[in-house]
Amino acid sequence: MAKFTIAWLPGDGIGIEVLEAAKIVLEKIALDAEYIHGDIGWEFWCTEGDAFPQRTVDLLTRVDAAMFGAITSKPVKAAQAELAPALQSQGRIYRSPIVRMRQMFDLYNCLRPCKAYPGNPLNFKEGIDLVVFRENTEDLYSGVEFSPVPPEVAAALTNVSKPFAPFAKLPADQYAVSCKINTRVGSERIVRAAFEFARANKRKKVTIVHKANVVRATDGLFLEVAKEVAKGFPEIKMDEANIDAMTMWLLKNPFNYDVLVAPNLYGDIISDLCAQMVGGLGFGCSGNIGTKLAVFEPTHGSAPKYAGQYKVNPIATILAAKMMLDWLGETAKGAAIEQAVAAVIKEGAVRTYDMGGSASTLDMAKAVAAKL
Ligand code: NAI
Ligand code: MG
Repeated sequence: MAKFTIAWLPGDGIGIEVLEAAKIVLEKIALDAEYIHGDIGWEFWCTEGDAFPQRTVDLLTRVDAAMFGAITSKPVKAAQAELAPALQSQGRIYRSPIVRMRQMFDLYNCLRPCKAYPGNPLNFKEGIDLVVFRENTEDLYSGVEFSPVPPEVAAALTNVSKPFAPFAKLPADQYAVSCKINTRVGSERIVRAAFEFARANKRKKVTIVHKANVVRATDGLFLEVAKEVAKGFPEIKMDEANIDAMTMWLLKNPFNYDVLVAPNLYGDIISDLCAQMVGGLGFGCSGNIGTKLAVFEPTHGSAPKYAGQYKVNPIATILAAKMMLDWLGETAKGAAIEQAVAAVIKEGAVRTYDMGGSASTLDMAKAVAAKL
């Protein structure tokens, strides 16, 4: 029996291609693993009315980790029309399979390292090495949303915010409500993960990203909890910044920052910015980490305009595989993959289109595998 069981979830579009590329690298490094395919994505919404079928949920309950490519999502209104005719009358609601996966398996820690590998022509500046911890299950992504707004919600809202509630006079379909919900326990565990990472990796500073001056209840709670957690890590400097200022400062001087931790939405935004500084979507890797399960993926989507062409950059996904190895405790293999990626980038002989070259997705994977 293999040492590890890995769920293999290619999904849609280029998700299939980048996972094929990552497999080349994992096979070359001879990870002792059994890979089990799982169905996920748009195709299963259309045919079964569920983009994340129960059999895939079941698979995830019995594996050590998962690799996920990307899915194609559709606007909610279009989603109904694309369902198989037999399913259309059942009132099924499309919900992002990734958000569901994160919430269902409590994958609360979205870890996104952003490192500028020397010689990458897409680096904003050489030497950038940032690690973003994004809370992954709550905040504005808690999924508590109203559109149209039911009367009881409208009544409750107008009751608590009377003088400032111009929406109270509007018909229910003329406004919408999305709830930003942040808990003490949810804030505590992501901030702790960031500080523990900093301690284990000899990082000097953790920056708390928030907007507590305006969003006082939720971000105020996040900041308060963060300050409490920081007290347990006296050797690590704690710093805090508003999300808006943060985007500006990060561009101005990325070397002032080290580890960043943020609630879900700000973390989503800031990690895309950091990914762009080290090469863009072809380099953005991500782990969705819980206590029992972790799912690793590139941060990009299914890029339908490139699907089937095998031309996108698989490095993000190969680095996600490296993160998976680290999480499984196979750190020597993880380090070897990272060194191989760094060597290929530095040599510059094999580059995909985004890096100014013409290598295919699989050529890039083979070049990395050849260094192992
Ligand atoms: P996208 O990330 O799929 O692609 C945007 C553009 O980024 C591409 O057209 C391409 O120019 C570039 N790009 C993406 N991956 C690349 C790679 N590996 N190498 C080089 N260039 C790359 O975002 P888009 O087009 O907005 O969304 C397409 C679909 O993917 C949508 O249905 C969206 O909802 C979904 N999506 C899924 C995600 C996931 O599965 N985790 C995340 C983001 C979007
Ligand atoms: Mg994003």
